[in-house]
Amino acid sequence: MSATQFTPGRDVLRPARTELPEEEMEPEAAYRLIHDELMLDGNARLNLATFATSWMEPQARALMNESLAKNAVDREEYPQTAAMEERCVRMLARLWHAPTPDTCVGCSTTGSSEAAMLAGLVLKRRWQQRRRASGSACGRPNLVMGANVQVCWKKFARYFDVEPRLVPLETGQYHLTQERLARYCDQNTIGVVSVLGSTLDGSYEPVDRICAALDALEGRTGMDIPVHVDGASGAMVAPFLDPDLAWDFRLDRVVSINASGHKYGLVYPSIGWAIWRDTETVPEDLIFQVNYLGGHMPTLGLSFSRPASQVAAQYYSFLRYGRAGLRRAQGRCRAIAQALAAEIATIGPFRLLSDGSQLPVIAFCLAPDTDNFTVFDVSRTLRERGWQVPAYTLPKNREDLAVLRVVVRHGFSGELAQLFLDDLQRVTDQLAKQAAPANH
Ligand SMILES: Cc1ncc(COP(=O)(O)O)c(C=O)c1O
Repeated sequence: MSATQFTPGRDVLRPARTELPEEEMEPEAAYRLIHDELMLDGNARLNLATFATSWMEPQARALMNESLAKNAVDREEYPQTAAMEERCVRMLARLWHAPTPDTCVGCSTTGSSEAAMLAGLVLKRRWQQRRRASGSACGRPNLVMGANVQVCWKKFARYFDVEPRLVPLETGQYHLTQERLARYCDQNTIGVVSVLGSTLDGSYEPVDRICAALDALEGRTGMDIPVHVDGASGAMVAPFLDPDLAWDFRLDRVVSINASGHKYGLVYPSIGWAIWRDTETVPEDLIFQVNYLGGHMPTLGLSFSRPASQVAAQYYSFLRYGRAGLRRAQGRCRAIAQALAAEIATIGPFRLLSDGSQLPVIAFCLAPDTDNFTVFDVSRTLRERGWQVPAYTLPKNREDLAVLRVVVRHGFSGELAQLFLDDLQRVTDQLAKQAAPANH
């Protein structure tokens, strides 16, 4: 296009398109347009907010490219992708100590959120079956969990008509514990969700003590309440770094576990996993038999089509790293998180809520006497250097507390951690001079 075709004026500015264009454009032009706009997105590697993997090796990327055109649901057409998915399920079932790892039910999902929906549905259906079998009325089902649960559980409750019973947080304790649990459970409780690695501060809930409290409750009342473990992050960390911690199917009361492959499973978004203790745990009517793509295909899932590339990438991560490599990768994240936490604690106004010794996550707040800036100011100012560090208030009963959170992931090197610390120190020195908070 020649320069003479442009007349000076506002017309040279182009608003983003919200209508399907009439005409085609050259692929290179379309690529440039979109590529340039995407440069305005934050840099994924400097995003310390997300738990999602933002770096994979070139070999994993190559495999993902090779599988881009495949749909994971076409099991008959892509039997090897299906076989790899199945192998991942078996590996996870073993890792999480399922009593019958070769036969228990499990599937890949679109992240932990879909896994949570499925696990919640299984809990609800099992409760309905139990109530009907005993001739009892089915009232409104409820699901008991800490107020710290990730939003996917609140979504599950609302979408599938279950009352969410959120146990409020207490001072110094930012997740569900066993103490007040029994008060929230009754005949209509379909299950308790326990989180291994709270989204808010990375702390592990005491799954074993929660199960023991429910054992005691059963002893007193006869109510047998199952536990689902939301191990979105922790189920891929604890088996390698805390092998003696019993949080999984070693506890009889745990009926299902979910994890995000795209968090500490070291795969780009989006893939998750859900595994049930054994075949009997999943009611048959939740499993669909689909045969129109050829072959006989049992499916469990909310969506149908899903990318096969994520399955290949998960299988790559498992094969490539193995137990030793995952122990090293997660151990390195934890070591960096703990070192970072120790340094943050020395920067005047910060107080740690968690120190990276469970999930490699650090949550920290400002000392109560800091009145001229807020964590929101810190978050906003760090953004000027490209760091994305979220600031938020805690849920019920601790809404007064606003925190910053840093998630240390695979690919966040010691060098980057030091650069982050230097910037955090600079930002804090700068904000200390400001007269009054700018962001709330
Ligand atoms: C504890 C927990 N559960 C569930 C989720 C939702 O996971 P996903 O993003 O894989 O759907 C998250 C996400 O951060 C989480 O931290």
